[in-house]
Amino acid sequence: MDQDTPVILVFDSGLGGTTILNHTLARKIRGPFIYVADNKFLPYGQQKKEFIQERVLEIFSKLNQKYTIESAVLACNTVTAYVAEQLRGSFNFPIIGMEPGLKPAIKATKNKNIGILATEGTIKSLRFTSLVDRFVSDEHNLIIIPGVGLVEEIENLPDSAENLLNNLKPKIKQFEDADIDVLVLGCTHYPIIIEQLKSLFSNNIEIIDTSEAVVNELEKFIKTEYSSNNQEVDVMVSDNSNSYYEKIKKVIHSSSIKQIKFI
Ligand code: DGL
Repeated sequence: MDQDTPVILVFDSGLGGTTILNHTLARKIRGPFIYVADNKFLPYGQQKKEFIQERVLEIFSKLNQKYTIESAVLACNTVTAYVAEQLRGSFNFPIIGMEPGLKPAIKATKNKNIGILATEGTIKSLRFTSLVDRFVSDEHNLIIIPGVGLVEEIENLPDSAENLLNNLKPKIKQFEDADIDVLVLGCTHYPIIIEQLKSLFSNNIEIIDTSEAVVNELEKFIKTEYSSNNQEVDVMVSDNSNSYYEKIKKVIHSSSIKQIKFI
């Protein structure tokens, strides 16, 4: 990709953002795309806020020097919670963030018991607490569980399948004991195991995943003057092992993917 071609940046700590990228590709939104995974410091949800802020600002500055960024998707709830505002203040391209889908959950619940599974970072963030303050009334019962360990286990599938199951079971039990009828997925890694999550609940629950909403938002910023059918994806990983790139490559639904050096 040359420096003057406007690119759409999709950023996450690891594999999670591919759930957003794949929705984008399926909707035939044109690229080219750069997918950046900062897997060296994964899981972001267990890192200090200040560290993530500094790290993501530095990565974005370098990317901005190297590329013409048309818009950027923070395909990560944790990054959005910690850095979205600073990024918006520092760069003049549109930055699309994401947050746990509380509003759709409130709409969907019938018994008013809503489960939320998100990273510890997202749950502790001011952005999340203010979201809860704004939209959740006393009649709702929120069961908020941090998905500690899940991101690493999802990253390491299939080897980690047993650990993942052992980690999920008590969490699902807590949700079931609280009789939730809606579960919000507050981390982009979790839709990767959406079928497993569904199968672990004994009752039918509605799962809220905000991937489509993020893509709707991105679509508003796509400039038609650059219109093309380009679905090329350049992938950058910070822990530059070939095996990590191969893993990402397998889950991205594009026939035109190549690895490029981390900035
Ligand atoms: N996928 C990211 C999110 O949506 C974070 C995963 C991590 O903890 O690295 O929050």
